Amino acid sequence: MTFDPELISLLRVPPKLVALTGAGVSQESGLRTFRDAQTGLWAQYKPEELASPEAFRRDPKLIWDWYAWRREAVKGVRPNPGHYALAEMAQRVPEFTLITQNVDGLHRMAGHQKLIELHGNIQRVRCADCYTFAEAWGDDTESVPRCSVCGGLLRPDVVWFGEALPRDQLEAAIEAARSCDVFFSIGTSGVVQPAASLAFAAHNRGAVVVEINAEPTPLTPKANYVFHGKSGEILPRLVEAVWG
Ligand code: APR
Repeated sequence: MTFDPELISLLRVPPKLVALTGAGVSQESGLRTFRDAQTGLWAQYKPEELASPEAFRRDPKLIWDWYAWRREAVKGVRPNPGHYALAEMAQRVPEFTLITQNVDGLHRMAGHQKLIELHGNIQRVRCADCYTFAEAWGDDTESVPRCSVCGGLLRPDVVWFGEALPRDQLEAAIEAARSCDVFFSIGTSGVVQPAASLAFAAHNRGAVVVEINAEPTPLTPKANYVFHGKSGEILPRLVEAVWG
């Protein structure tokens, strides 16, 4: 794979850089992307139908069990070369903002201490009513565990369809997108708002947009550089080409 010398020079400056990641970045770690089919017990459900406040109200135990299953799946999983390449970019580029839609915590595991988790983190559990975070809970209980402070139902600290994103995280993401020189969109289908609009905001402000994704997305026609393939292969090669 060869990279345009102009892109290499631009990254060497280094620019003010933002990277937005989605489920595709974790695919090579063995996690399913959101819009892949589910397996086994969960094959009959669409994630969109499970990840909503209405679904939790309707059947809290079903939703709790789905997240318990996903938490379990994430436990045995490790970052892949794409996560590590991004962590290395953060070392090389002083003004680097990583924004992720992923709730799996793999960027942190790869060494990113500072990042914007737009959709929360699946490992955190909080009260659905009073927002108190739980330190411990049982996953294999008959019913959904309850908050030790107010008795409300516990739920994962993730953003569900129809819910607002954490305001401070979203504001920081918008500000970073509007003021960056280069915006990377990596492993995301770009169909879920408001995350999907960040790349367009950067593009409208004149940033160079780089897309790395397995397949074309709505962003592809606007991107200055497009790499179709696996982020775990493309990102390490790019880092090597720029700083190796
Ligand atoms: N490398 C790069 N891209 C990949 C790879 C890979 N190894 N594997 C898959 N992809 C691409 C897919 O082609 C797809 O375009 O990653 C994209 C993943 O898209 P989605 O499954 O839609 O995931 P994402 O964009 O993160 O979804 C956004 O939707 O359901 C909500 O809250 C959930 O955060 C999620 C949000």
